[in-house]
Amino acid sequence: MNIELKNLKETQLLGAALMASLPKSCLIFLHGQLGAGKTTLVRSILRAAGYQGAVKSPTYTLVEEYNINGQKFFHFDLYRIADPEELEFMGIRDYMKEDAICFIEWAELGEVFLPKPDLIFNVSVQSELRILNMSKKSQKIIKLRWKNNDLLL
Ligand SMILES: Nc1ncnc2c1ncn2[C@@H]1O[C@H](COP(=O)(O)OP(=O)(O)OP(=O)(O)O)[C@@H](O)[C@H]1O
Ligand SMILES: [Mg+2]
Repeated sequence: MNIELKNLKETQLLGAALMASLPKSCLIFLHGQLGAGKTTLVRSILRAAGYQGAVKSPTYTLVEEYNINGQKFFHFDLYRIADPEELEFMGIRDYMKEDAICFIEWAELGEVFLPKPDLIFNVSVQSELRILNMSKKSQKIIKLRWKNNDLLL
């Protein structure tokens, strides 16, 4: 399913809609070119969850962890990993076992060490628009309320 995001405000609204819909434990891969808006979407979801601090891109730290009102989030960015084995060294399996909403930017760079995602988000830029393609890979039912419609992911 494709959703058009005309500006940052719409990305924030979508973040809120996703926050209301995502299962408390799920794995989401985010694809899209540099600067497409992956981190911005994750930030919008964390804001909607009630987080008011800075949401930094985990490009250098590999992962940022958030605990927001009892909900755990992991935000990975694998852009700078030199070898997917780094994921083994950092204990990726333990992260994946936790009850958390887990976002992984540039998951394609570490896919051999990652479990299958529940959702894949692909962000692309078309002139002024961001197009978010969402595809569901698991059985989990996810209903999204967007612009007065109920969308089934
Ligand atoms: N829906 C949107 N409308 C307008 N600008 C946007 C939108 N989403 C993101 N941007 C802008 O795009 C820029 C890059 O976004 P972001 O850092 O989220 O990209 P990214 O996909 O995470 O890149 P990277 O692969 O480098 O991590 C930011 O300046 C952000 O404000
Ligand atoms: Mg990013």
